[in-house]
Amino acid sequence: MYHRRHHLAMLAAAVLAGTAGTAAAQETVKIGVILPMTGQQASTGRQIDAAIKLWVARNGNKVAGKTVEILVKDDQSIPDQTRRLAQELVVQDKVVALAGFGITPSAMAVAPIATQSKTPMVVMAAATSAITGASPYVVRTSFTLPQAAVGMAEWANKNGIKKTVTLVADYGPGFDAEKFFADRVTLNGGQVLDKLRTPLRAPDFAPVLQKVRDAKPDALFVFLPSGQGAAFMKQFAERGLDKAGIRLIATGDVTDDDQLNAMGDVALGVVNAHHYSAAHPSALNKKFVADFEAANKFRPNFMAVGGYDGMRVIYKALEASKGAGGDALLAGMKGQIFESPRGQVLIDAQTRDVVHDMYIRKVEKKDGQLWNIEFDAIKAMKDPGKS
Ligand code: DHB
Repeated sequence: MYHRRHHLAMLAAAVLAGTAGTAAAQETVKIGVILPMTGQQASTGRQIDAAIKLWVARNGNKVAGKTVEILVKDDQSIPDQTRRLAQELVVQDKVVALAGFGITPSAMAVAPIATQSKTPMVVMAAATSAITGASPYVVRTSFTLPQAAVGMAEWANKNGIKKTVTLVADYGPGFDAEKFFADRVTLNGGQVLDKLRTPLRAPDFAPVLQKVRDAKPDALFVFLPSGQGAAFMKQFAERGLDKAGIRLIATGDVTDDDQLNAMGDVALGVVNAHHYSAAHPSALNKKFVADFEAANKFRPNFMAVGGYDGMRVIYKALEASKGAGGDALLAGMKGQIFESPRGQVLIDAQTRDVVHDMYIRKVEKKDGQLWNIEFDAIKAMKDPGKS
């Protein structure tokens, strides 16, 4: 008798738990975010994580009547880790979307998983043009290096810079920056004297800067990933290149808002091209920067904006799909148009890549702090790597 009653009670409890479990599962949508929270790219993880938290603080954790659960995983920007974490998030946690991706090799490692599982994958940081071609489920809210490099080349051509040397990190986004800068400046009559590369991990700028000094170009064009700008600037100044009449021009990754204030006066006057400046003078951005700084005690950079806009794209797509994942969620991401802290943004429905203004900026001191001050822009720029 006891046995029987106990058994029934257990069964009832199990059924109840099961029902509760199913209801809870239906009411929750999970988003898997993979970021470098430690290691060389940790500033990218810190910025994007803070931006995601700001998005949720402002917009809540309910979408389409469901509770959004965000799972943040640290891949240390080791692509094998990124792949393993993505697999776990899809198979075990059943996330509706994957997001983050601090460097190109991490994004590339996950693209086949997105395709196989039909899981939309929002690239918030990585910026090699080819990433959107690696899976039809990739949507990008960061930027592309061809956008920034072409923007910089156009400015160089119009401003009397004839002889250049390029210096880039020796991997995907560096190859894009080098090629698109060189092709555009030479098309417009400029000259590239040398193309130099430094390793992604533990770069040493001394030997390449000596080569730059010897080549005596009018300008050195640089792309380095977020986090390397300050070390580079220090070396550039220590080797006296700023005093040798060699002008520094760059993608905005080098004059990164995360590190800009620590760079000191060597950064003053550096002209660079990028899609986001913390000094972007819109009301929306001023509020974004104020709220972000109040919550974090540091300035948002372009990575933060890629993360913030990525959350916007995911939330709006979840509203459209009523919380469903897969192709319905992907469809809701395509074609979104909105005002971002960077300015107007379109997610091109054909390419799934970001279309936005590419600003030309100059580093200036205002109220004792260094900022990238926008003074020109190529409006609504598509990725030149796609045409
Ligand atoms: C990538 C990483 C960066 O930190 C950056 O500033 C630009 C591109 C990348 O790996 O794609």
